[in-house]
Amino acid sequence: MSLFTIGDLHLHFQSELKAPGQLHEPVWKNHEVKFRQNCEKMIRPDDTLVLAGDHSWGRNSAECEKDLEYICGLPGRKVLLRGNHDMFWDVKKTAALNRQFAGRLFFLQNNYAPYQDYAIVGTKGYTFEGPFYVRGRKIIGWDKEAEAHAQKLVEREAERLEASFEAARADGYSRFIMFLHYPPTNVLERNSVFTAMAEKYGAEQVIYAHCHGEHRFHDSIEGRHHGIMYRLVSGDYLKWVPLQIL
Ligand SMILES: [Fe+2]
Ligand SMILES: [Fe+2]
Repeated sequence: MSLFTIGDLHLHFQSELKAPGQLHEPVWKNHEVKFRQNCEKMIRPDDTLVLAGDHSWGRNSAECEKDLEYICGLPGRKVLLRGNHDMFWDVKKTAALNRQFAGRLFFLQNNYAPYQDYAIVGTKGYTFEGPFYVRGRKIIGWDKEAEAHAQKLVEREAERLEASFEAARADGYSRFIMFLHYPPTNVLERNSVFTAMAEKYGAEQVIYAHCHGEHRFHDSIEGRHHGIMYRLVSGDYLKWVPLQIL
């Protein structure tokens, strides 16, 4: 029994492709075929695969049907996290999605997924990327209004993450693997409300995605930081090979 993860599949079987890079960068060419082949080679039926958000370019459930069908067809138990592009998944629809896909997909939001003696916890997260404008690592401008808006999004996501940890803890779990779609910090930070929460609950690993395209691969924490292992798992970074983390 193993735990695998990857993010940013950005499937588009029924929807318009919104990222031009996906048309031109070789890593995205037939990525859904390469990824399925890799999964079929590596993942057994009793393994778990956590998909760390941005599953589909579809703007609603109807436009995501085939993308979710593709995910259902991958081997192993599938746990899905919300990404910023997952328009089919309103937070309030999580329970309905879990009923609709019972036994096929598990949607992780304000809940947790057990894995051996671990709880898989997580939320989309948010990184404070917009309010400042950087050149290299130097701040060259700051938007106060955007900063206040970003702060609200961060706080709401932190509440959702806490709800996930607390749901697991109420059921007796004390070992955690924490998932975020957004990176835990922006390019300027080494700590955030999300790293603080990982430390507070003693998460052993923090897994995140969202950073794709080579220029973004090193936007946040990688490797061990304050005793916790941080890993980026966006699909193009992993070249569509799911990463085994347990
Ligand atoms: Fe993405
Ligand atoms: Fe994203």
